[in-house]
Amino acid sequence: MLKTNSKMAWLVSLTCLTISLLVALFFWAKLRNRSSKLRLPPGPPGWPVIGNIFDLGGQPHRDFQRLQSRYGPVLWLKLGNLNTVVVQSAAAAAELFKKHDLAFADRKAPDSMTACDYIKGSMAQAPYNEYWRILRRLSSSELMVQKRINASVQLRRSCIDKMIQWMKEDASEFGEIQLDKYLLIMSFNLVSNFMLTRDIMDFKSETGNEFFEAMHKFISWQGKPNVVDAFEFLKWLDPQGIRGRTKRHLEELLKIVSVFVKERIQERNLQKGNETRDFLDALLDYEGDGKGSVDKLSEKNINIIILEMFFGGTETTSNTTVWAMAELLCSPDSMRKLKAEIDRVVGPSRAVEEDDLTELTYLHAVAEETMRLHPALPLLLPRKAREDTEFMGYNIPKDTAVIVNAWAIHRDPDSWEDPLSFKPERFLNSSIDHKGQHYEMIPFGSGRRSCVGMLMGERMVNLTLARLMQSFDWELPANVSPETLDMRDMTGLSLRMMTPLKAVPRERGV
Ligand code: HEM
Repeated sequence: MLKTNSKMAWLVSLTCLTISLLVALFFWAKLRNRSSKLRLPPGPPGWPVIGNIFDLGGQPHRDFQRLQSRYGPVLWLKLGNLNTVVVQSAAAAAELFKKHDLAFADRKAPDSMTACDYIKGSMAQAPYNEYWRILRRLSSSELMVQKRINASVQLRRSCIDKMIQWMKEDASEFGEIQLDKYLLIMSFNLVSNFMLTRDIMDFKSETGNEFFEAMHKFISWQGKPNVVDAFEFLKWLDPQGIRGRTKRHLEELLKIVSVFVKERIQERNLQKGNETRDFLDALLDYEGDGKGSVDKLSEKNINIIILEMFFGGTETTSNTTVWAMAELLCSPDSMRKLKAEIDRVVGPSRAVEEDDLTELTYLHAVAEETMRLHPALPLLLPRKAREDTEFMGYNIPKDTAVIVNAWAIHRDPDSWEDPLSFKPERFLNSSIDHKGQHYEMIPFGSGRRSCVGMLMGERMVNLTLARLMQSFDWELPANVSPETLDMRDMTGLSLRMMTPLKAVPRERGV
């Protein structure tokens, strides 16, 4: 009986596979016929059905850049049945953001994020529609306005104070410490204070708390290439189980966030609670703008939006700070200059404040140079063509995935002198910055879909770095030198060091 059952299962699988292949061949033939009439950007020839999948390894930002030398700054790839255009020079990015920002304003969301209907509540993955516009306006007024950011100065200060204290205790006990853990927990608390006016993580927790653990598991699945993103017809099968696993972790995360949101709703009903109005209050207060059809955000969508701010604002900022520390540890001269600047501007008797940041020009240059070499999202967030578009003389069909390889643009010798070297000095007395108007430097993206948390992210990185420099003298562990430090990267939710950075902090100040 068992034998007959497994034979049946095998036959069913084989039939499904054959049908899937035939469907794929049919669409491939149809699309090929259409594509041959279009003027597409250059790209490597693809195989039937699978297209250029074998041209990519595990690090798309590097793989795309490798193809640039042969095919130029606008690259065409077929990833399974997904049309993909990759933009890899400042000039091509300028053309995209200045002239075609609207035509390419949809997102190409990964299949995994369709789990738990995440996409329906998300801002980052939303198509360019009314719902996105509402969220964008709401978050911009909370996250992009100096006055709102300034109102939370004390919260940031206290999160960083706690982290420094924790590092001091651990350094005196263990000597060397692994930086990412401290910075990630701190950035979780920074974001959670901004969104919810509460610490979400306990620095002293031995086991790491529930949210952190679930987040960690979720992140570990996000960097993995998913065959379904190339072959949509395999969606029902979820062959690598990525959507299934993402769903599990998303459910856990959303459940935790929903408790915070429910608590707040109850507090508001009882008219007690925090006097300061935070991001969650802004979402709960929303009652429509009198123009569109959305007059309230559902509780489910509010949970998703809050969670998304953790996705957007934690790993990006903590990894950027880790990269800055790694570069400084490899460049003692830059570290010396930075410490000297902080000592000169702030002195030894008080901690760096956010008001000091405008005067710390070398600090700013170090942060810029770090984001140039290690942009947190090397391919930004992929976009999608909303309509057939003529771009730089090429025909880009509707629904094509549009990828901007910021990582390659930031290392392009046509835009940067000695592009692979860490030289903060290049940003001193330079008008180039990260705000999205200089297309050779776009760590936060540009245009309509650029990072909504840029102001906050920039503050978090600069302030944290300044405090790390002020509080400690840093050295690499005894068995590591600047020449042997592993600077390889890997992608998760954002670009991080493949080997976690360890360093020895020696207390030096506040
Ligand atoms: C160093 C810190 C950060 C970096 C480097 C960064 C980078 C980016 C990039 C590259 C994008 C995509 C832009 C594009 O496609 O053109 C993005 C989008 C986004 N970021 Fe950030 N980010 C940072 C911090 C934050 C923070 C602190 C938050 C919120 C708390 C945040 C929330 C978002 C959201 C919601 C989007 C989606 C915007 C949209 O699609 O309209 N980010 N970020």
